[in-house]
Amino acid sequence: MDLGIKISEEGKNYTIDYENASGWRRSLSRLIDDDVVFSLKDARELLRKEGDVIIYDVYNLWKTIPRIKEISEKTGVNCDITVLNHGVISASDSGELFFTYGHRHEKGYSEIYTLLAGEAFLVSYEEGRQKTTMIHMEEGEEVLISPTSIHRLYCGRKGAVVAGLVPREAGHDYNAVKGKGMPYAVFLKGGKYEYPKNPKFKDVEFELSEAGSGRTLDLFFETPDEVKKLLGK
Ligand SMILES: [Fe+2]
Repeated sequence: MDLGIKISEEGKNYTIDYENASGWRRSLSRLIDDDVVFSLKDARELLRKEGDVIIYDVYNLWKTIPRIKEISEKTGVNCDITVLNHGVISASDSGELFFTYGHRHEKGYSEIYTLLAGEAFLVSYEEGRQKTTMIHMEEGEEVLISPTSIHRLYCGRKGAVVAGLVPREAGHDYNAVKGKGMPYAVFLKGGKYEYPKNPKFKDVEFELSEAGSGRTLDLFFETPDEVKKLLGK
């Protein structure tokens, strides 16, 4: 599909470029201030060593790209891009991989994430069932996020460019994550992934899984009402 953006690779990271880009940025200090990192000590060491590094950028394609804006206005479904940088939250080369803050939707809508470039993990925590699913994503794969999921993205051995489709009304509840983070994290240690449990949570089940291929992002352009229905209550 052609979203009307240009994705460029620079080492392990990606940048995107399009006309009238509009969005916002999250850096390390905010993740420390809100205590959503696995280890505050490691995070503060990185802050001292590297400064307030940029963790991710979110671009609201639905605000400025005419074709997307038109569909979004008609369906109420937003299309955003998250560019998550690669890195570990540590002064060494091992530690918690860079991640997005995480949130739950205020109203019961689903969301679709499609990985456009790089490598990522989607962490989905179902608080009611006390279960965390860690879903590994490769380029072109998508994940349907449940309406009750508290979800966060981690980068992999590379950064990640993720397209999200979610109804505008869904809303973001960041308090679901603030002060505690998620039950499980993704670490890179000696080039290998590890999924340590966050001691702030008790007895949360853990499952590792793989994302699947899908074409919901194409359908957003072809049959947007179907996508709206898929994400609806
Ligand atoms: Fe979401």
